Amino acid sequence: MVATAIEVHGLEKSYRDLHVLRGVDFDVARGSIFALLGSNGAGKTTVIRILSTLLKTDAGTATVNGFDVATHAPDVRESISLTGQFAAVDEILTGRENLVLVARLRHLKDTGRIADELLERFALTDAGGRRVSNYSGGMRRRLDIAMSLIGSPPVIFLDEPTTGLDPEARIEVWRAIRELAAGGTTVLLTTQYLDEAEHLADRIAILHEGRIIVNGTLAELKKLLPPAKVEYVEKQPTLEDVFFAIVGGGK
Ligand SMILES: Nc1ncnc2c1ncn2[C@@H]1O[C@H](COP(=O)(O)OP(=O)(O)O)[C@@H](O)[C@H]1O
Ligand SMILES: [Mg+2]
Repeated sequence: MVATAIEVHGLEKSYRDLHVLRGVDFDVARGSIFALLGSNGAGKTTVIRILSTLLKTDAGTATVNGFDVATHAPDVRESISLTGQFAAVDEILTGRENLVLVARLRHLKDTGRIADELLERFALTDAGGRRVSNYSGGMRRRLDIAMSLIGSPPVIFLDEPTTGLDPEARIEVWRAIRELAAGGTTVLLTTQYLDEAEHLADRIAILHEGRIIVNGTLAELKKLLPPAKVEYVEKQPTLEDVFFAIVGGGK
């Protein structure tokens, strides 16, 4: 097993005149959570699509689980799962049926047991028999992540896993992602949310104007800023302060 789960060197990609990636470099250690942070349109999904062999690079190299994405695409695909920006679950089926379906498509045995274990792991046991159309956004996204784990891929890509979720659902999804990494899975996630990267990631890289402009742990990133300043703010008296100053007494 290689120690580095993902290696990216000098990745470039243009869509016609639009030079989206201009030399992207980063590595992801096995079993860690790596957040690729960038504003809308920065090129995060483009990076994920290249790493999951859905898109070819113009220049540069990338390996996933030790396999080159350009020359060993089938091995890369066997090593990964991809959860896109929009939940890809079947609405008409129940949560459990969705899981069984994917397990069957992957030619696994004991599909019912696999489904039940995943439902339990993602706190969906009670909801397992209900149609997905009745699920909340957070439940749906958790089911989506559970589906992507069938077959136990060592590397998982989560493209904006919590965009559009309410705060409570985001925390549920964060918990599920942390559990994945605790179990040894390497997680590469993209996000536009600073707090998401801050809460989840072992390392954070900021993609801006086609390049990684910073890459480090949260503590390292914080050191890039000058130390916290102490500011003196003049406090205006409240009506209560005025009242007691005039009439005497009070606090
Ligand atoms: N298939 C495509 N054809 C043309 N332009 C594209 C295509 N896919 C993405 N883009 C453009 O490339 C830029 C980066 O897109 P994307 O990687 O989806 O960014 P992000 O995921 O960070 O929001 C955006 O300006 C987007 O409009
Ligand atoms: Mg995107």
